[in-house]
Amino acid sequence: MIGRLNHVAIAVPDLAAAIAQYRDTLGARVGAPQDEPDHGVTVVFIDLPNTKIELLHPLGEASPIAGFLAKNPAGGIHHICYEVEDILAARDRLQAAGARVLGSGEPKTGAHGLPVLFLHPKDFNGCLVELEQVG
Ligand code: CO
Repeated sequence: MIGRLNHVAIAVPDLAAAIAQYRDTLGARVGAPQDEPDHGVTVVFIDLPNTKIELLHPLGEASPIAGFLAKNPAGGIHHICYEVEDILAARDRLQAAGARVLGSGEPKTGAHGLPVLFLHPKDFNGCLVELEQVG
């Protein structure tokens, strides 16, 4: 059911330092920061030949990333995103198997303008999983 790894998202405490590190030290193609007030994050996309990295930094007081960085002050992997062709079919199959979908259970528009859902990390080996419909 799941397809390609769409991205790995890394929460970073110092966005400028992380941008410089990926661009200058690791030699990656790093995009411009994008503020996403609806999600409480500033995102930087990094294009790799086979997937993407997303640097996440808190935006606003109620950012979901702020709590993560409080627990992980040096930053850390926040979630991984798998592609699916039909997000509603994927959700129904996962819920039937007992997996918990975060929030209302309805897809939201994600950072790439496509429908996304998040799955409870306790149901997936401690890893927050995002599904993105790319079909
Ligand atoms: Co993501």
